[in-house]
Amino acid sequence: MRADLVSPSSAHLSYAIRDIVKFGDLVRQHGVEITWENIGDPIAKGEKVAPWIRAILHEVVDRDESWGYCPTEGFLEVREALAGHVNARAGVRVSAADIIFFNGVADAVAKVYGFLSPHARVIGPSPAYSTHSSAESAHCALPHLTYDLDPENGWLPDITDLRRKVEKNPSIAGILLINPNNPTGAVYPVRVLEQIVALAREFGLFLVADEIYIHMVYPGEDTVHLSEVAGDVPAIVMRGISKELPWPGSRCGWIEVLNRSVDQNFSAYVDSLVAAKRLEVCSTSGPQLAVPRIFGDSRYPGHLTARAGMYAERAREAHERLSPIPGITMHRAQSAFYMTVLFDHGALNGTNSLHIEDRGLRELVQRQSKGVAPDWRFVYHLLASTGICVVPLTGFYTPHPGFRFTLLEADDTKRAWMLRNLAAAVTEYLESGKKVA
Ligand SMILES: Cc1ncc(COP(=O)(O)O)c(C=O)c1O
Repeated sequence: MRADLVSPSSAHLSYAIRDIVKFGDLVRQHGVEITWENIGDPIAKGEKVAPWIRAILHEVVDRDESWGYCPTEGFLEVREALAGHVNARAGVRVSAADIIFFNGVADAVAKVYGFLSPHARVIGPSPAYSTHSSAESAHCALPHLTYDLDPENGWLPDITDLRRKVEKNPSIAGILLINPNNPTGAVYPVRVLEQIVALAREFGLFLVADEIYIHMVYPGEDTVHLSEVAGDVPAIVMRGISKELPWPGSRCGWIEVLNRSVDQNFSAYVDSLVAAKRLEVCSTSGPQLAVPRIFGDSRYPGHLTARAGMYAERAREAHERLSPIPGITMHRAQSAFYMTVLFDHGALNGTNSLHIEDRGLRELVQRQSKGVAPDWRFVYHLLASTGICVVPLTGFYTPHPGFRFTLLEADDTKRAWMLRNLAAAVTEYLESGKKVA
């Protein structure tokens, strides 16, 4: 080639949740049946969408507009309805002009960082959700900047760490928060959200809030939408239907822009996001039309409560099964459908292993494990020994070794099998290290 075709940003693209699939496929070629617990897709794990939601989609398909393009920002009637939902809560008021549709939150993420000046940085949580951390990193071809989520404090943001980093680094223009959080499953209390808002106000920053799991908060857990506490701070809130209907294949999400008029520069930046979206014409039309019909249906609150209760029960079940194992720390999730397990300091010593019957597989794991972080090594052993595929925690931009698995398996017997085998494998892996040491 006459010129280098590879962008310097490409080195910053990684997505451990799907990167591990390549190895899973190799293990499968050795005859092992894989139990995928890495990807947050309820449909792939057997969840059936409620018949009344399906019926609404059938009605939408009968509308001609669902087959065509829509305005770049989205259908006006839909944006008005969503603005009405935001305004029904106390807090920041928005209009239809503040709601902009994307092809899923992931598309909004790509635009929000992709069209931000490379000199303006957004600091995000660690552990990080890779779509955000990779996109932020790629926008300036630099490593992502992070603040700590504290495993000793229920994975809540370490506000002291965040403040110190914001003070020290004048290129930080925004703070990302993911509430409820992926991968930790934590939900942020109002006081934590207020502290982050206050920090943004003090330093003239904008906020990015990923609230894709906000309708999946377990019974008894307390949090609010950012719009309820943002006051006068400019913010972009990301929402979607992939998880809560669930309909990840809809590729339908949107942003709520809060306090756009407060800052001209912020407003010009939001204009640039719409201009970028315009080059793509628009987002998916049909799913958009379904959103206000589903959100406005009298059955929707009950649908959300039932799902949150179901996942709360699965989180309790997983916590009961795994948390007593010596050498790990685990917090029960408070929302969504992920659980994160941390290996305690000193629990892994590089000699830990699991029994792998097949010689070819053993060799594959040995080759793959050379020079990798200790939790990747665990994940490779787990895959080859049990077929269970989880995501190494260090794949989420954190130095803490551990792993994330999902609570999505809809078949109770299979889920019980998975938890039993996962617990047995973690125990065996940690014990094996002690023997060699
Ligand atoms: C925190 C978070 N944001 C965004 C997404 C992607 O959302 P969407 O399907 O709307 O692109 C996910 C998917 O797992 C997620 O966990």
